[in-house]
Amino acid sequence: MDAQRQRLLAQIGRTRGTPCYVYFIDEVRQRVQALKSVLGGRFEISYAVKANPNVGLLRGLRPDVALLDVSSAGELQRALSSGCPAAHISFSGPAKRDVELQAAAESGCEIVCESADEAEALSQLGEARGSPLKILLRLNPSRMPRRFGISMAGRPSQFGIDEEDLPEQLPRLVRLRGVELAGFHIYSGTNCLDADAIAENFAFFIELFAQAAQLAGCRPRKLVFGSGFGIPYFADEMPLELGALAERINPQIDALQADPTLAGAQCVLEMGRWLVGPAGYLLTQVIGAKRSRGVDIRLCDAGFNNHINAAGMMGTVIRRNWPFTHLSPEADAPRRSYMLVGPLCTTADVLASQIELPEIRKGDVLAIGASGAYGLSASPARFISHPVPAEFIVDDGAITDVSETCP
Ligand SMILES: Cc1ncc(COP(=O)(O)O)c(C=O)c1O
Repeated sequence: MDAQRQRLLAQIGRTRGTPCYVYFIDEVRQRVQALKSVLGGRFEISYAVKANPNVGLLRGLRPDVALLDVSSAGELQRALSSGCPAAHISFSGPAKRDVELQAAAESGCEIVCESADEAEALSQLGEARGSPLKILLRLNPSRMPRRFGISMAGRPSQFGIDEEDLPEQLPRLVRLRGVELAGFHIYSGTNCLDADAIAENFAFFIELFAQAAQLAGCRPRKLVFGSGFGIPYFADEMPLELGALAERINPQIDALQADPTLAGAQCVLEMGRWLVGPAGYLLTQVIGAKRSRGVDIRLCDAGFNNHINAAGMMGTVIRRNWPFTHLSPEADAPRRSYMLVGPLCTTADVLASQIELPEIRKGDVLAIGASGAYGLSASPARFISHPVPAEFIVDDGAITDVSETCP
């Protein structure tokens, strides 16, 4: 972290109270612009609101990101109140409730249909409303590159229609009268840091999109590529190299646009963590110190109730230390090994173990990096009934409180 950012975070920690989340919206904008620039207009960018649904953040993102993807009526409401028109919103996700399908239909957003059953329910809804609902069919591929991060493909899954079932299902689904098929959607994996694996996955997507278009007997207007772009969380991980990624992906999209089955489709790159993750921090103050059986423990005012991911409790097999920064170490402070824990009454509430940091005293503030995505909204904030952490946006050095009350 650069010195200027470190000073600003230290100031926020000192003056605004902890624990709190801080999002550098200018960094998010720079990331979007860098991505758009290497992709040369081949994709529209869609931001998955689930990664961080803070309305202040959505407002800050909107001028740079064309589309928002939501997965609940609550997220739909947030997207609309950020000023995003319904025509720029898609609604994906399994187990959508009837009231959510109704809300989506009423708003006029596009609905990403996850099963044949859901397509039929939507068709009935469209017929009852007297105008067909615009849908994308989510496809569940049978394969994934082996080196991909977290994979959702090739096994029983609640997401999308299985590739193997398309020959039987698609010809029937395209005849449904209450829905209008705008195109196809695939999101089969996430948190990949390997440009080759992402490009290989996109090749699978394109094959499957073409197969689906042929079975449906129509040219899709829209194709959503669930990006799977990952971010580094641990010291031995490197960020995705945008240039290398574009070198592999851009020719694939150029070929897609030359293929008579898919030509003219609007290609959408859907992602959450890559856009906002690296630009966010959780600040926590050390409020106690103890030594137990040879281990130096520091007691923090944030635990996994505020950041379940940093405690390694969301899809991680082995807990590893996230990037921690001591925001105001004493000059020449010796580095020591610490165990950092939160306030919850469970041994699982460990934020870091055997982490080397400059000497930590009571009152010091630590920043947990890579925390802009799946931080507060993914965490069990009601556990132990502490107040929900405040949230701040920093834009060109100006700090805005964008805190929300828990729904
Ligand atoms: C349909 C869909 N889109 C987008 C995302 C965002 O994923 P990520 O934040 O890893 O980019 C997810 C994650 O679960 C998802 O299920």
